[in-house]
Amino acid sequence: MGTLRVNLNERSYDIVNEAGVLHQCGAYIAPLLRGKRCFMVSDTNVAPLYGDTVLHSLADAGLEATLLTIPAGERSKTPEMLAWLWEQMAQSGATRTDTVIALGGGVVGDLAGFAAATMLRGVDFIQMPTTLLAQVDSSVGGKVAVDLVAGKNLAGAFYQPKLVLMDPETLTTLPDRVFSDGMAEVIKYGCIWDEALFAKLERLGSRPAVMGEITDITTACCDIKRQVVEQDELDLGIRMILNFGHTLGHVYEKAYHYETYTHGEAVAAGMVAAAKLGQKLGHTPAGTDERIAALLAAFGLPTAIEADRTVCETVLGLDKKNQGKTIHFIFLERLGKALPVAMDRAALLAQL
Ligand code: NAD
Ligand code: GLY
Repeated sequence: MGTLRVNLNERSYDIVNEAGVLHQCGAYIAPLLRGKRCFMVSDTNVAPLYGDTVLHSLADAGLEATLLTIPAGERSKTPEMLAWLWEQMAQSGATRTDTVIALGGGVVGDLAGFAAATMLRGVDFIQMPTTLLAQVDSSVGGKVAVDLVAGKNLAGAFYQPKLVLMDPETLTTLPDRVFSDGMAEVIKYGCIWDEALFAKLERLGSRPAVMGEITDITTACCDIKRQVVEQDELDLGIRMILNFGHTLGHVYEKAYHYETYTHGEAVAAGMVAAAKLGQKLGHTPAGTDERIAALLAAFGLPTAIEADRTVCETVLGLDKKNQGKTIHFIFLERLGKALPVAMDRAALLAQL
C-alpha cells in the first residue's frame, strides 16, 4: 500500500493506492463527505466491471449513490455530456453537500471533475481511477476539462479532488493497448525525474513484470506528480515538465485526426523526437533517444511517427504553453532530469 498526501493548503488530499481498496472504498470516502449523497460517474466498460463493488461499499458505509453511466471513450468528453450530467444531478435534486465520484479512466475523471467543479458552483469530488494513465497522471493535480470542436481540453478548470483512491487490481482488466498507453506516461516520469525508475522499467520490460511491482511503480509516479503540482498547482512554471513528449505528441495526434494513434502512442514518439532534437541542439547526451526508444518498444509503443509540416505549424501555434512567439519545449538534460527551454517558435519549427 502507498498513501501520499498532496499538500495544497486547504485543497490538500490523500492518494490511497492499495490492492482491493475498491471493496472498502465507502470506509475511506464516508468520513470526508459533507452529506450522504453521491453521484458516481462511470462509463459503459467500467461500470459493469466495478460499479457494483463500489456501490455496495458506499451503501455499507451509509452513503446513497446514484450511478451515471456515460458511453466509454474520448467522444464522451464533451460539453453536451457535461450538460447531461448537470441535468441528471439537478433533476435528482442535487445540493451543495453532495459529492461526485469518478470511477473510470481519464475521460470519466476529467468530465466528472468538471461537472463537480461547476455543479452548483462546486461540489466535492473524488477520483477513483481505473486506467494506468489515470492512476499515474490524470487523477492527480486537479486538471478537469472537456474537449471542444476546436481542440482537446480547451474548456476546463483546476479543481482538486478530496481523495484519490486507486486499486491496482483494476488494471488487470485493461486491454493491452490501454495499458501501454499508460506506460508511456510512466516512462515519461522516469525520463523527466527519476532515472532509477527508468532503469527499473528497463529491467522489468513487460506488462506482467510491471504488474508484479505495480503499486510501487504507480505510487512513485504519483509522488513525482505530487511534488510538481505542490510547486506549481496552476501550471505557470515547473508543471510544464510533465509535458515532455507532449508538444510533438499533440502534433501526431492531430495529424492523424485523433484516430490512428492513442495519446500515449503519440507521446511515446514525441519523447523520442524530443530526445533526438535535444541531442541535435546539444541539450541532451547522445544515445538518450535510443534508450527511450528501446524501453517504449518493449511496451509496444511506437518510437517514430511522420507528421505533415502544416499540422506541425498549426499545433505549435496553439500550444497552451506559448507566450507570444516563444514556446517552452521540454528537453532532457539527461535521463531523469527535464530541461525546459524557451525557444522562438519559428526556430523550433526550422529544427523539426
Ligand atoms: P479512457 O478514460 O478513455 O479509458 C480508456 C479505455 O479503457 C476506455 O474504453 C475505458 O472504458 C476503459 N477502461 C477504463 N478502466 C478500465 C478497466 N479497469 N478495465 C477495462 N477497461 C477499462 O482513457 P484514459 O487513457 O484513461 O484517459 C485519457 C483521457 O485523460 C484523455 O481525455 C486525456 O485528455 C485525459 N488526461 C487528463 C489529464 C489531467 O491531468 N487531467 C492528464 C492526462 C490525460
Ligand atoms: N498532465 C499534465 C498535468 O497535469 O499538468
